[in-house]
Amino acid sequence: MTVTAEPETVRGGPGLRQQRELVTAIPGPRSQELLARKSAAVPKGVGLTLPIFVEAAGGGVLRDVDGNTLIDFGSGIAVTGVGNSAPAVVDAVTAQVAQFTHTCFTITGYEGYVEVAEALNRLTPGDFDKRTALFNSGAEAVENAVKIARHFTGKQAVVAFDHGYHGRTNLTMALTAKSMPYKSGFGPFAPEVYRAPMSYPYRDGLLMGEAQANDGAAAARRAIVQIEKQIGAANLAALVIEPIQGEGGFVVPAEGFLPTLLAWARENGVVFIADEVQTGFARTGDFFACEHEGLEPDLIVTAKGIAGGLPLSAVTGRAEIMDSAHAGGLGGTYGGNPIACAAAVATIRSFEEDGLVERARAIGEQFLARLTELKRADARVGDIRGRGAMVALELVDPTTGDPDAALTAAVAAKAHAAGVVLLTCGTYGNVIRFLPPLTIDDALIADGLDVVATALAETAS
Ligand SMILES: Cc1ncc(COP(=O)(O)O)c(C=O)c1O
Repeated sequence: MTVTAEPETVRGGPGLRQQRELVTAIPGPRSQELLARKSAAVPKGVGLTLPIFVEAAGGGVLRDVDGNTLIDFGSGIAVTGVGNSAPAVVDAVTAQVAQFTHTCFTITGYEGYVEVAEALNRLTPGDFDKRTALFNSGAEAVENAVKIARHFTGKQAVVAFDHGYHGRTNLTMALTAKSMPYKSGFGPFAPEVYRAPMSYPYRDGLLMGEAQANDGAAAARRAIVQIEKQIGAANLAALVIEPIQGEGGFVVPAEGFLPTLLAWARENGVVFIADEVQTGFARTGDFFACEHEGLEPDLIVTAKGIAGGLPLSAVTGRAEIMDSAHAGGLGGTYGGNPIACAAAVATIRSFEEDGLVERARAIGEQFLARLTELKRADARVGDIRGRGAMVALELVDPTTGDPDAALTAAVAAKAHAAGVVLLTCGTYGNVIRFLPPLTIDDALIADGLDVVATALAETAS
């Protein structure tokens, strides 16, 4: 009799068994060993949301080193939209890595960089001449967008919005709104960064009656008055805004907010920078979230979903703005690394050819249908919102409407223990967000949402 031994490592990708299955408690013994090694080797500041270590992932699941299979409702924070170890990405990366791994694009060029730039120039909103520069992380790309806008306008001030998140470098910490954990103790921050009020329909105080409930233009006027009085358009280089806020709580601004801001920016010589690092690449059921209201930003920043998990980011925008920086003014050793570019070409092709934009919409409908049921049955679910495969629920004290961060943390912890990777967010820490890979199947979504419903029921007092 031949006994087939369990392979040492399990191959990732869509071939992984698409079913939630726990064979140990979370964390299992091997993850516990690695947690102990992590504590001894990695600083506390680098936290872990779930106490597990992964050995393979694909489709809609992650498999940990103890053999537990968890449902992935996070995509590594909106990165693996195309799926983990998507076969086309694996093939493209494998082929590239065998050819050459690095030259530094600003020393000697290669086609992959240009191909990614061409694809982004074609796909981003706006039928005008564009240019794209590539970087490594979302924060680095946001910094470069601000650099470019300052150079182009000759002005210095930058406005970001309440609840906004743009990264953890010095300039992007200044742009980010929330102190803990992103900024506290890490200052001083970059100067000439100002904050304006966001449209947050559930909480912004403009919800006075049906007529005003969706009046994004009113919310924009409130921001514009503040900007004009406190900064002045003559000093303002750029507005930086997420079309749907990510870390800030999946805040979807009321219709009209973004177009009103964009029109004001245009009239006043202010560069409108859309930070689509989290919303980009099919996530919201459009290729880019700006398409929803027909917005054509001057500059658009992308990262996360762009390269199937490899580090890559981009600034794409109007040629006259992008070309204003002198030769040698933009770049970096690794920006637009050839392996990341090969991954991005394959990833973008998959978004275009595999129906992932439509899939994001269908995923959104499935989530919203179930979350609406949960909201009807449970007054602690104050709001559900989002678009496409970027949806969230906001948990509150039903009597006061105050944010309930403790409940949110408890629900997430129960979901983790039951085998669902569930992320939270929000200025008040009371938002559960769903960012599944677009390759997840309906049965996994249904099972994961059952887990969330059970976790909510178990926390009812
Ligand atoms: C909207 C937005 N901008 C910028 C960033 C920063 O990207 P990175 O973590 O790649 O630096 C993030 C990351 O979550 C983000 O969501």
